Amino acid sequence: MYVLGNWKMNGSPELLERFTGPLTALQGELSSQAHIGLIPPAGLLGKFPPNCEFMLGAQDVSEYEDGADTGDTSASLLKALGCKLALVGHSERRQLFGESSARVAAKASRALKQKLTPVICLGETWEQREAGDTWQVLTDQLAPVQQQLQGELARCIIAYEPVWAIGTGKTASPEQAQEVHAWIREKIGLHQVALLYGGSVKPENADELFAQKDINGGLIGGASLDIESFEKICRAGARQNK
Ligand code: 13P
Repeated sequence: MYVLGNWKMNGSPELLERFTGPLTALQGELSSQAHIGLIPPAGLLGKFPPNCEFMLGAQDVSEYEDGADTGDTSASLLKALGCKLALVGHSERRQLFGESSARVAAKASRALKQKLTPVICLGETWEQREAGDTWQVLTDQLAPVQQQLQGELARCIIAYEPVWAIGTGKTASPEQAQEVHAWIREKIGLHQVALLYGGSVKPENADELFAQKDINGGLIGGASLDIESFEKICRAGARQNK
């Protein structure tokens, strides 16, 4: 199981300080049951000690090689800073920064070239779900990734994050999440790819969600900013052996 904390545009050197020791100990304790990851803002990445046991991830990665792309962060720099993971296509990047699915695929491809594991985020809005468009939206988000990465998709992680459940306190029910995860697994035809659920995961609902057959972990936003909540969610992940 994977439990990844996405701090989004939150956090500080002090918060990092508070997390590093306890999370290193927790990953040591749960090493055979859970892969724990922290995905802080890019400015904090270089501040983690090199020996922290948990995985570090970036919230975004440039689709370009190092060069004249002011404001972007290259996959090679992320690698040098100790990252193992890079989120691509988070719904906030798609909505607020207009990232297309083609660009998301290019970013995933660039990350793979540097041996970073892309965490490809997908999800529909509430209006799309209500209109019965969920499968079409997910098909459209997946298509460029499938075309560009082909067999390399097997080296990625996919996170299903329904936009209507992100930061809203409204969680997809375990059945709703499982239905979409099973559909994604079938669609990509790669049974080894870890499928994570994201959207208002908390200590109170993590066990139920993680118990679903096709859910291999979680991508946690708000609850990952509190070490006690995050630890509880990591332990919920560790209780599921898949
Ligand atoms: P919340 O857990 O705050 O709903 O955020 C989910 C998310 O977007 C993680 O990437």
